[in-house]
Amino acid sequence: MKGISLLNGLLRGVVLMSVLGAAAVQGAERRDLIIDTDPGADDVVALLLALASPEELNVLAITTVAGNVRLDKTSRNARLAREWAGREEVPVYAGAPRPLVRTPIYADNVHGQEGLPGVTVYEPAKGLAQGNAVDYLIRTLSQAPAHSITIAMLGPQTNLALALTQAPEITRGIKEVVVMGGAHFNGGNITPAAEFNLFADPHAAQVVLDSGVRLTYVPLDVTHKILTSEARLAQIAALDNQAGKRVGDILNEYVKLDMAHYGLPGGPVHDASVIAWLLQPELFTGRRIHMAIDSREGIGFGQTVADWYGTLKQPENVLWVENGDAQGFFDLLTRRLARLK
Ligand code: RIB
Ligand code: CA
Repeated sequence: MKGISLLNGLLRGVVLMSVLGAAAVQGAERRDLIIDTDPGADDVVALLLALASPEELNVLAITTVAGNVRLDKTSRNARLAREWAGREEVPVYAGAPRPLVRTPIYADNVHGQEGLPGVTVYEPAKGLAQGNAVDYLIRTLSQAPAHSITIAMLGPQTNLALALTQAPEITRGIKEVVVMGGAHFNGGNITPAAEFNLFADPHAAQVVLDSGVRLTYVPLDVTHKILTSEARLAQIAALDNQAGKRVGDILNEYVKLDMAHYGLPGGPVHDASVIAWLLQPELFTGRRIHMAIDSREGIGFGQTVADWYGTLKQPENVLWVENGDAQGFFDLLTRRLARLK
């Protein structure tokens, strides 16, 4: 029997690598990365994870957008994460203060008035970079070598949508866009049908989808399978450094609402799952599918419809990540936070 289980294990490994083979190879090389974000508790954890991983991720800049809270607060919180990671050389550019079309919506009920629960916020020492995030995206992506820059989208996709609308040719500089957003099997978190980032600006997400860039979605389908637990939070607290303390305090506060609402034993760290995918894609599984976004008024507003079984026989336009190794994620997060002060 031992021989058979070993063979099964090998076969599973072969299947997994074939699904993510290209991504796994990509995961090995160092990426030029722009992180577009609306910090946000889980955004800050994602920023710390990315900024603690310079061997794999060359973070060119952080661009901020209104989302969880107003733009002035998401921008301050991005600067706080940068300071806490000891990476103040990374510029932070503020971007869009509101969505493309719909009225602004925030998630301060989840992330707190300051957009960062569980910790004391303050004005960081280093300020914003000069200039708007959209102009930075256009300038940087226009001048970049072909398909060389990865963009991690951790909030509403407004900044990139504005850049693509003004300068469609910037797709040439983009390697791929990895989005925290959407939901299909899991259902939504802001409505039964829609996930917050898509609900907050579905028109922007449509512009990005229509641009034809290589696109990966890390939806609630997978982030709701990568949950905190007492043991996982304890392993982070055991780091006995400021980063571990801060992330533990942030997550302890942040996950309360999801745990109560969904009756879950722990809460998701949505945005950090995107960075983990970039660092260790082999922790995840998914498949290339056709996805559509609903931006019509009504109960389906902001919904992502993932054609997982290819029913519509439409062109595959996203890699839809549907599962992940939760313990592997928290072990990676813990190892990288250990590098910080
Ligand atoms: O639905 C979760 C997403 O919305 C995360 O990016 C969280 O930070 C909020 O922006
Ligand atoms: Ca976010």
